[in-house]
Amino acid sequence: MHLLNTIDEIRSRISKEKQLGKSVGLVPTMGALHEGHLSLVRAARACDVVVVSIFVNPLQFNNAKDLEAYPSNLEMDVELIDKDADVVFAPDYTHIYPSKPSTSIQFGESESNLEGAFRPGHFGGVGIVVSKLFNIIEPDRAYFGLKDLQQFFLIKQLVRDLSFPIEIVGCPTVREPSGLAMSSRNKNLSEESRSKAAKLFEGLKIVKNEFDRGTCWDKAKNVGMLFYQEVGGLSIEYLECTSDDLGVLDQFPESGNLVVCVAAQIDGVRLIDNLYLRSEKEVTSISS
Ligand code: PAF
Repeated sequence: MHLLNTIDEIRSRISKEKQLGKSVGLVPTMGALHEGHLSLVRAARACDVVVVSIFVNPLQFNNAKDLEAYPSNLEMDVELIDKDADVVFAPDYTHIYPSKPSTSIQFGESESNLEGAFRPGHFGGVGIVVSKLFNIIEPDRAYFGLKDLQQFFLIKQLVRDLSFPIEIVGCPTVREPSGLAMSSRNKNLSEESRSKAAKLFEGLKIVKNEFDRGTCWDKAKNVGMLFYQEVGGLSIEYLECTSDDLGVLDQFPESGNLVVCVAAQIDGVRLIDNLYLRSEKEVTSISS
């Protein structure tokens, strides 16, 4: 596995691989890697060369404390993916941002709900760094976790709108045995808050159970919220039902994909999760 830090190094490496006719899969990350990332890296093995980028992108943090608390350990990350990745691209801030970008990316309506509503400017920052990584590495495919569902849909929108010749692949959420969705932020949870955090998924399953029994959305949401209230220690930011257009729904439609999404603060750690209530169209691998 090769650890590269500069744009020149990675460009020259990728260009050699492409001259040999090799396909390139990119797994963009902010480090603090875990099993969820490993599942993306393994999925990227469908390509000849697997590149993992590790860069904590300050532009996507709308809260300075959140950025400061974001876990980071390059040595451990490299050790974890040593056998599965071919190249790790871990640039410094100044390589990616020689100056603060004046260009901005806005996703319109699609970023007005869910994460977008609670983290103003977040997706603009994601859009900038992902566009830069796409331009630097020019992958054939890029792999993203479906835990960050809105991010996945917005990156597909970005690829479509800006004609990046890249296939965006979404990979299922990886969970701990307790049901807790794997996340870099879990590293900041205490033992006690970790078991509370696992209840987030339980709440989503309760909502799904209500949906399966034919309950209306309002009631299903109330049942879910009541469960979270009883758990205690979970400050729920939203529990919403959405579809592929990322609009927040006030009732369950008759057909189409449906997913329930939750965001919560647990002891100062912000976590998100989601669960498909109905999946009619494949969302996991979509080309631009
Ligand atoms: O999902 C993440 O880890 C980040 O948002 C990403 C896509 C690597 C951009 O910084």
